[in-house]
Amino acid sequence: MKRIPLFHAGFTRLPGRLPMGAFETVIFEKDDRGIARVTLNRPQALNAFSVRMRDDLYEVLSAIKIDDEIRAVIFRGAGEKAFCAGADLKEFLTAPSAIKARRIRALRDLWRLFLSVPQPLIAALHGYVLGSGIEIALYCDLRIASEDVVFGLPEVELGILPAAGGTQTLPRLLGLGRSLDMLLTGRRCKGREAFESGLVSHLVSGERLLQSAEEVALEIASLDPRVVRSAKQAVVRGMDMTLDQGLDLERRLALQCRSASK
Ligand code: CAA
Repeated sequence: MKRIPLFHAGFTRLPGRLPMGAFETVIFEKDDRGIARVTLNRPQALNAFSVRMRDDLYEVLSAIKIDDEIRAVIFRGAGEKAFCAGADLKEFLTAPSAIKARRIRALRDLWRLFLSVPQPLIAALHGYVLGSGIEIALYCDLRIASEDVVFGLPEVELGILPAAGGTQTLPRLLGLGRSLDMLLTGRRCKGREAFESGLVSHLVSGERLLQSAEEVALEIASLDPRVVRSAKQAVVRGMDMTLDQGLDLERRLALQCRSASK
């Protein structure tokens, strides 16, 4: 898989920042099978989610969203020990102006951007997946993990609340009881339990992690992208609707797919 300069993916870089295709905290790759790979790349800090990483991911996701060649996206973490050990605690609450930081957060709302990406997102998870790390994984549509995976939301132990959607996304996946168990105590959840609870859909050995994620991505990439995107939309948007509204949405999307295929 080659690194592709982002402007090839229909993306215009802000001038004068980073060299083409290279990000400080993220590696973006795209291949000719329609698969993109986004690697969180701060292994020395267990891929902790920093302000820089937020901005890099924002640019990468904005580019992916409008790139019709991309049919599935894999997220993974660099290094042996972690997908992501949560927010960067070394820079946490160090913004010189809380007002400015809030304004930039609203302008660059990475979490809503995650929700708006039409292509299926696959998280390939290993090692620590904590705080913002699990929250990123929860914005993905499929989670594949290696046996060494450790999930957790340690925010309450740090005296803060999850602020990247975890209180909302986790219960949608695990239900109330299991989510509260993790959210109220910071309790860690490891491989087998994560698989049995539905937090991950596949549990594989470390050596097979990326290969398994690629197999799933390839399977998706071989299908009609309109149908795949509509199926994702029906399920994800439908989760926040009444059954009645969801059925209407499904009918509309099914009709659109049928008329587009004629
Ligand atoms: N932020 C910044 N640096 C981090 C980090 C983080 N979240 N997690 C790990 N690192 C750094 C360590 O400081 C260390 O760097 P140095 O070598 O320079 O000292 C390096 O990564 C390796 O980490 P450890 O030596 O601690 O590795 P370990 O195997 O002994 O422990 C760990 C691993 C249990 C994950 C431990 O690193 C840890 O507890 N990390 C913090 C986890 C955490 O609480 N994350 C924040 C969640 S809250 C959140 O994400 C907020 C939100 O949504 C708003």
